[in-house]
Amino acid sequence: MAEEVVTASWAYGPSTWSILVHGGAGDVAAERLPLHVAGCERAVAAGAAVLAAGGSALDAVQRAVEVLEDDPCFNAGTGACLNADGAIELDASLMDGTTLRAGGVCALEPFKNPIAIARRVMDESPHVLLAAEGAARFAIERGFQRAAPESMITELARAKLEAARAKHTTEGWAGGTVGAVARDANGRVAAATSTGGVVNKLAGRVGDSPIVGAGTYADDTAAACSTTGHGEAMIRVCLAKTAIDAVRATSAESAARGSLAMMHARTGGTGGAILAARDGSLGLARTTRTMSWAAAANDGTRASGA
Ligand code: GLY
Repeated sequence: MAEEVVTASWAYGPSTWSILVHGGAGDVAAERLPLHVAGCERAVAAGAAVLAAGGSALDAVQRAVEVLEDDPCFNAGTGACLNADGAIELDASLMDGTTLRAGGVCALEPFKNPIAIARRVMDESPHVLLAAEGAARFAIERGFQRAAPESMITELARAKLEAARAKHTTEGWAGGTVGAVARDANGRVAAATSTGGVVNKLAGRVGDSPIVGAGTYADDTAAACSTTGHGEAMIRVCLAKTAIDAVRATSAESAARGSLAMMHARTGGTGGAILAARDGSLGLARTTRTMSWAAAANDGTRASGA
């Protein structure tokens, strides 16, 4: 756990759109952190463009996460970490706070944008979560193309796998899960999260990111939340839903801080959480050394890796 819990928040009026993205809680090397922050800035700009044009929070978070998935810096989409077999298996989900509809994919073979497939699961199936070969078949039937693994595997991902194998650990995590939360000018909130999971994970391992209530949650009556960090801990405490329930009685920043503190106390897990609350405010917290993020509203953009 970091020496201190680091938090930040911004208050906006209820008629203002706002969006916050993260590039993962973890321990990114100082020389690489500016790349992560710049990637978050590009993603938040893409999401903000959707909102500024009158688009929905749901479309904005999907667009922001697609940009993060395409950025090889992050542990999602291109650049995702490798499992114990040396393969990419992807998890992603999104949720609409107005309808409580959600969609996700997990243990998915390489596809460029798993969050776009998750959206189709939400929009075009009676289900919330599709796994592995079934998720791939669903995607191909809807026109998505399998990606050549070598087009999505980076040298950094290979190096991280070799390091984890040398230490005989399946616990190592890349700290680059990505996510976005937004509130549009009509008061609708949404959240999206995408990841490659943890380095050297067992084939078939599924983390928190595609699990509604753990990695992603959205409810217009409270807030939207995307989480990042130790997936097993986050599943066990239903972190995103815990933070959403807390925001009914406190600020987004305090809800993020409190839910992470509870998770650490009960499981030892660390990570980060970002929230967009129904009142228009944004808040975040992390209990790791780094978490890149960027926030935008109609008064401009802020970003940091700290
Ligand atoms: N939080 C990402 C994972 O554990 O899969």
